[in-house]
Amino acid sequence: MLKIGLVGVGGISGAHIPAWDEMENAQLVAICDIRPERMEKYPEKRHYTDFDEMLEKEEFDIIDICLPTYLHADFAVKAMEKGINVICEKPIYLKEEDIDRVYSTAEKNGVKFMVAQVLRFWPEYELLKEIYDTKKYGKLLSGTMIRLGGYPKWSWDGWMMDEKRSGLVPFDLHIHDLDFMVYAFGMPEVDYQYRSKLPDQDFISLNYNFGDFSVHSEASWYATCYPFTAEFRFQFEDALVSNENGRMVIYLRNDEKIDLSQQAEGDTGSINLPKSDAYANEIHYFADCVINNKPVEKVKPEQLRCVLNILNNL
Ligand SMILES: NC(=O)c1ccc[n+]([C@@H]2O[C@H](COP(=O)([O-])OP(=O)(O)OC[C@H]3O[C@@H](n4cnc5c(N)ncnc54)[C@H](O)[C@@H]3O)[C@@H](O)[C@H]2O)c1
Repeated sequence: MLKIGLVGVGGISGAHIPAWDEMENAQLVAICDIRPERMEKYPEKRHYTDFDEMLEKEEFDIIDICLPTYLHADFAVKAMEKGINVICEKPIYLKEEDIDRVYSTAEKNGVKFMVAQVLRFWPEYELLKEIYDTKKYGKLLSGTMIRLGGYPKWSWDGWMMDEKRSGLVPFDLHIHDLDFMVYAFGMPEVDYQYRSKLPDQDFISLNYNFGDFSVHSEASWYATCYPFTAEFRFQFEDALVSNENGRMVIYLRNDEKIDLSQQAEGDTGSINLPKSDAYANEIHYFADCVINNKPVEKVKPEQLRCVLNILNNL
């Protein structure tokens, strides 16, 4: 049975904690947050307000880091130096040096490390990659990816709105789509970029050139309560693959369409999307790498380096 510890019991921990709790071969035994009230919801776990104390008193196989971005690399290094495997929320941090620091610590201590880039485990995005890889609908011609929402006023201590601690929209929001593109299509050139950044809003619009096709992407924190929206549309020679308005639909040349979301509800047929939780998928994948001593191949440091290099040059 894997023993798990989690640090940072804020927003995203609400997706990680249930995923650990549902696993049969892992037990989330202890959690840590500087705000004790954040942990009251989980009375069955041991609570710590100090990460060092938790590392000293407990024995873990895996630490799950759900802290604000600026603490990721330091906390990951600290845990790995104690011989503990680490899964860490995105992004690793803001600089390419952090990638080297974290991966060299993992290597030196013989432990595994993974940045939880969740789109790589998201059924709709996995299917898009499969369609691209298999050329099922011909060659890819163009794509659009968007990720929009309101300004994150809710974050603890306002850390998300502080560029030095979060990197703002490029590192917090757009990184999801760019990471997926690098994972699925390889390394692009940026041939257009526009950003409008004010104290309470941040918008970027980019065009990525992959040689044979290009992908336009937008990401924003608007200064309004605009609802969170994450969508894509990819134009292949013989089909348009759309994940918009909460539905994944493949529009075919002959005017027919395959509504994958509809099929998933019925849970029949061979093409339907699995009803799965991407956060649980990434956690299960990492736990499996640890249990079976497999390399963490799904998230590679050179891909993370490419993403940070692009984001740092915007
Ligand atoms: N994969 C995704 O879809 C996704 C979604 C949201 C956030 N995230 C990432 O998850 C991370 C956390 O984001 P969030 O929205 O949960 O933030 P949050 O502000 O809601 O939570 C952060 C938590 O960390 C705690 N904390 C701060 N300093 C600490 C310390 N020194 N020791 C222990 N606890 C401490 C805070 O009290 C807070 O509860 C970010 O890096 C973000 O980029 C990923």
